[in-house]
Parts: sequence; C-alpha cells; structure tokens
Amino acid sequence: MFTQDELKRKVAAAAAEYALSCLDADSVLGVGTGSTVDCFIDAIAPHRERFRAAVSSSERSTQRMRDLGIKVLDLNDVEDMPLYVDGADEIDHGMNMIKGGGGALTREKIVASVARQFVCIVDASKVVDVLGTFPLPVEVIPMARNVVARRLREMGGEPRLREGFITDNGCEILDVAGLKITQPAQFEAQLNDIPGVVSCGLFAISGADLALVSSQEGVRRMHGPTAQRDI
Ligand code: 5RP
Repeated sequence: MFTQDELKRKVAAAAAEYALSCLDADSVLGVGTGSTVDCFIDAIAPHRERFRAAVSSSERSTQRMRDLGIKVLDLNDVEDMPLYVDGADEIDHGMNMIKGGGGALTREKIVASVARQFVCIVDASKVVDVLGTFPLPVEVIPMARNVVARRLREMGGEPRLREGFITDNGCEILDVAGLKITQPAQFEAQLNDIPGVVSCGLFAISGADLALVSSQEGVRRMHGPTAQRDI
C-alpha cells in the first residue's frame, strides 16, 4: 500500500517526465504551488539544464526552485510558456478544479493563463463527481471581506475567514463551504463579478488540459470530454 506522500512523489515523477518531453532548451516552465508541486520541483531539478527557466506562482515555490538551482523568471519577462504544472484540491471529470488550499490561487491563475497547456497532478482522492466538498477559496481585498462574505452567503455558501493568513498579494482568503458546484464555469464567472473578489479558486472557465492521477494501480491520464489537444 503506497502512502499519500508516495503517491504524490509518483505523480510528480510522471509529470517531470511528461514536462521534459514538452520542453526544450529555450522553454520556460510554469510551476504551481503545494506539496505535490514540491515533489515535482524536486523531480525536475536534476534536469534543469534541459529548459531555460521557470515562472513561479508563489514565494514558496520560487524559494524551493532557487534552492535547487532552477532559474526563476518574472512573469513580466515571459511571453510564451508551453506548460504549466500544478496540483489541485479537487478535480472533476470535466477537468474543472478547485485550487487555492495553499492560498496561491490568484498567481496560479495568472501564470496558468499564459501557458499553452495546464497539467494537473493529483492523487486519486482528489477526483470527484461534483466540486464543492473541499471549501472553495476566494481571495478578497481585506476591506471587502464582510461585503463579499454576505454575497457568498446569498449564493448558498458558508464563508469562513482563513484566520492569520495573508496571501503573497497582501489579501485575505474566505474558504466557502457548503457548495455543490454543478455549473462550474457559470459559478466562476458570478464570483469574479463580485466587487472585492481578487480571484476565486475555481478553475473552470479555463480548466486543466491533462490530469495525471496517481493511485495504488499506478499513474493514469485523464482528459476532459472536450479536450482539443492530442496530449
Ligand atoms: C495551492 C493549490 C494547490 O495546488 C492545492 O492546494 C493542492 O495542494 P497539495 O498538492 O499540497 O495537496 O492550489 O494554492
């Protein structure tokens, strides 16, 4: 029986192998945040000469990559990114995700938006039929915390402030429980429209292109029903 940590390392190793097959010496790799991504950084670091550099979605990942000798660029200096690799808190069969358990959702969404391909790396416990069991993180401007929380309650959620946590952007996180997200892209658009919301952890308007899912049986690939690319 593999532990969850071993499953994370296995999917990270598979993602590193996949990433290296997509990258060349001029490529910039987008890197997400979290414990699974930490394993991915460890797995790709010995091969850092095979790509130009990385762009990071958090101070945490930046530090880890620099410590391991991976060059990290500012996103402002990057125009093209073949690949973005990140974990998720939940992913459904339509490749919609809840992210932001580590609080890096806004930078993750920004970096992912530049990449041509989003590769999600998870263990099988994160694959769900309907998103929402994991409380949805919503990053808010601190002065708007209560007005946004009231709107989220009207929308059927139970928001709770992530106590003592400030994002890399100087903002706060409301974790919204009690949701059953059956129309993820529509719901994401509604959340994006609330004044005071910086971004939400729903990645549905633009979801993952490919998921690598590790379980006791090995690492399998999952594609969305409308996947355009032959990955
Ligand atoms: C951070 C994230 C992470 O990808 C998500 O929380 C999964 O983390 P982990 O790999 O530690 O389970 O969105 O903001």
